[in-house]
Amino acid sequence: MLRDGIGSWAPTLSVKRAVVDFSSPNIAKEMHVGHLRSTIIGDTLARMLEFSNVEVLRRNHVGDWGTQFGMLIEYLFDTFPDLEDANDQAIGDLEAFYKASKKRFDSDSSFKERAQQAVVRLQGGEEKYRKAWKQICDVSRKGYEQVYERLGICLEEKGESFYNPYIPMVLDLLNEKGLVEENEGARVIFIEGKKLPLIVTKRDGGFNYASSDLTALWYRLNEEKAEWVIYVTDKAQRDHFDMIFSAATRAGWLPAEDNKYPKADHVAFGLVLGEDGKRFRTRSTEVVRLVDLLDKAKAGYKDKLVERGKDTGRTNEELEQIAEAVGYGAVKYADLKNNRLTDYTFIYEQMLDDKGDNAVYLLYAYARISSIIKKSGREIEELEKDGSLELTQDAERVLGLHLIRFPEVVEEACSKLLPSLLCKYIYGLSEASTKFYDDCPVIGSAAETSRLLLCKATEIVMKQCFHLPGITPVTKM
Ligand code: ARG
Repeated sequence: MLRDGIGSWAPTLSVKRAVVDFSSPNIAKEMHVGHLRSTIIGDTLARMLEFSNVEVLRRNHVGDWGTQFGMLIEYLFDTFPDLEDANDQAIGDLEAFYKASKKRFDSDSSFKERAQQAVVRLQGGEEKYRKAWKQICDVSRKGYEQVYERLGICLEEKGESFYNPYIPMVLDLLNEKGLVEENEGARVIFIEGKKLPLIVTKRDGGFNYASSDLTALWYRLNEEKAEWVIYVTDKAQRDHFDMIFSAATRAGWLPAEDNKYPKADHVAFGLVLGEDGKRFRTRSTEVVRLVDLLDKAKAGYKDKLVERGKDTGRTNEELEQIAEAVGYGAVKYADLKNNRLTDYTFIYEQMLDDKGDNAVYLLYAYARISSIIKKSGREIEELEKDGSLELTQDAERVLGLHLIRFPEVVEEACSKLLPSLLCKYIYGLSEASTKFYDDCPVIGSAAETSRLLLCKATEIVMKQCFHLPGITPVTKM
């Protein structure tokens, strides 16, 4: 691995191309902590698969279609009769805009009627309506793109609207296979073991979440030729995906056997709780805004740096950079280390602690190893010529053995779709490297060359370990 790079340790998976559908917020609504979980877990899965040489199509399946747009568009027309005035600023606070239009929708029956018509006109492709729809989507998009940029997330948007034109054709396919039935005026697919059927065309002839998901799955398997389609959402949507996958299996798009490809998986996760043990909300019982949460983590670590006097001799820009890397890394790690199905409690103090199973502790372990290598001033080529790796002390053996487990851990984390397995590994690696650091002097010792090689191997593996969950390592903190 030292000679050939970490890529030579990449596990070999049996798929070539996968879709990871993650993040996927809803237009005109604030991204909340649930979307944060989806974003972080999805990005980590994508990175692990990419490292394993799988081509990953990172899909942002945004909620950009549906009945709420009638209400939003009509409200936009009411507030800004001349659309040109409705600049980004004016509808900038989309959350407030959404609420105001909802209030109107619920209280004003003529508005409600117009809103319902607006959906039809939008879906019928009327220019004025498409334009307003696009404007609303653009404002929303700007908001979440900022979050992605801060978190270093790369995603390609193919929202619900993208699949809309394909829906009739896909439903025809399902119909030809005899899957679609009439039920109380709606068109549905019955699924074995489920009481309620999957509605694919509503009573009013409109399409819904299920129709676009069936179509998206068809598209991913047939047009994009993905062998593995992975969906990351909260566990409340488990039933929905069960039904979608069952319908796809009945249609023959997916094999009935679990161990065959192509396959589809729902990666479910639990809730984020506040310190009061309830759903994580702000005092005003609003959902927690993602941007505020990131700001707070960053500011928290910056305060810690100042407290420890680490601000002297550093520019504000440097401090900000460190605080960002560590603060965001801490948020990501605090989420990923839990088995994704369990609910976890979001506690800033704890996630920024430099002891225990936290990103700060891991990053320290990395910084220490890197600083030994830097101090030695020796290059890997020279070290290799000088000697070989000999693990004689307990701490060296433990660290060495931990290092070589890396490929199998990534493989298991990929196949079980469990980033927490990777986190457990990183924590163990940090412990082993800290023990080695405490027990085995490196520079100037008789075993200097061998130990530097071990440091180098540790540095490389750790670096990859941070890369996979999207954590930016810092060497000074
Ligand atoms: N927009 C949905 C939500 O916020 C998540 C979409 C997940 N992906 C999908 N293909 N259904 O709950």
